[in-house]
Amino acid sequence: METTAISKPHFGKPVLGIETSCDETGVALLRWEPDAPGKGLLSHTLYSQIKLHADYGGVVPELASRDHVRKLLPLVREALAEAGLTPTDLGGVAYTAGPGLVGALLVGASAARAMAWALGVPAIGVHHMEGHLLAPLLEEDPPKPPFVALLVSGGHSMLVEVKGIGEYRILGDTLDDAAGEAFDKTAKLMGLPYPGGPALAKLAEQGRPGVFRFSRPMTDRPGLDFSFSGLKTQVLLAWQQSDQSEQTRADIARAFEEAIVDTMLIKCRRALQASGAKRLVIAGGVGANKRLRAELAAAGEKDGFKAYFPRLAFCTDNGAMIALAGAIRLAHGQQQDESVQVFPRWDLETLPPAI
Ligand code: KG4
Ligand code: ZN
Repeated sequence: METTAISKPHFGKPVLGIETSCDETGVALLRWEPDAPGKGLLSHTLYSQIKLHADYGGVVPELASRDHVRKLLPLVREALAEAGLTPTDLGGVAYTAGPGLVGALLVGASAARAMAWALGVPAIGVHHMEGHLLAPLLEEDPPKPPFVALLVSGGHSMLVEVKGIGEYRILGDTLDDAAGEAFDKTAKLMGLPYPGGPALAKLAEQGRPGVFRFSRPMTDRPGLDFSFSGLKTQVLLAWQQSDQSEQTRADIARAFEEAIVDTMLIKCRRALQASGAKRLVIAGGVGANKRLRAELAAAGEKDGFKAYFPRLAFCTDNGAMIALAGAIRLAHGQQQDESVQVFPRWDLETLPPAI
């Protein structure tokens, strides 16, 4: 996406962040505080469309767009009220411009662009995965580049080398299903309700160790790419050939979670070694997984790297991460022109550095 030089810096004023790329409407207000970004977070609100899509077993794009239309402005009002601000206090507006569902993205982009135009402030389109990647900066003791980021969400499984903000090199990507997608599809085939990922993770807590074992895909050869779709087939076979009891379902869930977490751990270690980085950032919806967090934190203590995670609410989609990524870019003099543009597919490596 082209960015143009800013006409009027936002002088440390609050930035409104809007996330509408999928099935969550997220809104936040944040004032850019370079040394402690989390201190600049003034308010954040979220509306999840889970109930709307549950009957269909997955996200229905047209329903998602329509619901963003209904919820976005009330959430903006709520976030402003919570922060004790009015629209005229804003210094800029940031919105998710991609990747994501085109209709859903257009709702956030048009509303953000219209507000920015009416208020005479700059607007900036944010890359959703950059938002995820920067979310750990909202916590205490924020990670400083260079670091390696494991970005694991419903749509992505990536290992990214981060030299600076906007300086991203993809070290590994998924060849088929993303990690979250693998969780969701596996949960569905064992009859768990949508959204399956968190439900499967919860069930795995009741599972007994060692009853089932699945492979760690693509760990027996060099490289940092992921492939999770074969794992799903292994689970399907195990489930179909089992007694399909509650305990068996939990045992399979546990073995599946262990296989995914172990695979990610192996690849993270490789990526850290290859890049020489001593910091690992974990972000995206699957970053909320307890076993993943525990295993990576323990590996860090053992191997001598530090693992950084966002709080659980900022692992999954939210407005705070978009406000943060946007505020950083606005503070570095970047903004979009006045057209409404979204990018359902958008390569993270094409972003300009924020310098
Ligand atoms: O980042 P996110 O909210 O949305 C996307 O950008 O895709 O990620 C959602 C994904 C879903 O696939 C969901 O099942 C998964 O994150 N997820 C989890 C957990 N919480 C959310 N997967 C495993 N364990 C969890 N605790
Ligand atoms: Zn996401």
